[in-house]
Amino acid sequence: MIGSKILKFEVIESTNNFLKINQSSLEHGTIVQANIQTQGRGRNNHTWMSEKGNLYFSVLLKEEINRSLIFDNLVKTSVAIIRLLREFDIDGRIKYPNDILVEDKKICGILTESYGSLDIQYLVIGVGININQLDFKDLSNKATSFKIEKNKEYSIEEVLGKFIKHYNKLESENYELIFKEYITSSMVVGKKILFDSKEFLIKGIHKNGNLILEHENIIEYRTPNEISLTQLY
Ligand code: BTN
Repeated sequence: MIGSKILKFEVIESTNNFLKINQSSLEHGTIVQANIQTQGRGRNNHTWMSEKGNLYFSVLLKEEINRSLIFDNLVKTSVAIIRLLREFDIDGRIKYPNDILVEDKKICGILTESYGSLDIQYLVIGVGININQLDFKDLSNKATSFKIEKNKEYSIEEVLGKFIKHYNKLESENYELIFKEYITSSMVVGKKILFDSKEFLIKGIHKNGNLILEHENIIEYRTPNEISLTQLY
């Protein structure tokens, strides 16, 4: 169960960093949310621009975690976001491994970070959801928000509340079915990519988080770091 304790900040460096620094004194499921992040981070050391008006939060998981569950948590988080978007009548699709898009524009990014080598001590799931931002400047053809999609302002707290509700509900659901929902909400499965100068069909996503690729009837498995999905067709 997540969200029994929520810490809110007006300004913070990064909600992921806050949990990383303070995890030993915080309970499993604690959520930290900020209105502004001064050093918001995305995958591959990218900056996550975090101006006021959007939802930035991280969840601390300390119980029943191990390395093989990291991808399962990303799956659950992604499905919780797809379901919450549906409640707002927004049709989101999952762009493997960690983006949620509306049509071709990103509305949400997820940054999962684990700590500990063999035995994972804790997991931080950081989520940024674009809510009331209208101007994405240089990224305006790549990003969208609730407000752009629906032409009205939304309560950031309400969206966070719905995320918590959906995530907690998923904890009691069958993982096989959650994984199926993840695959049917994926926008990469069934598409083609060029990799190593060869054309591959993305056949699926393995439960361990690897992409399943096919070229001339030969199946290959690739991790998200080995492959770029910028050119899908
Ligand atoms: C990505 O798309 O690359 C992931 C973006 C994750 C951004 C969120 S905002 C809340 C949390 N704190 C951070 O510094 N990053 C994540």
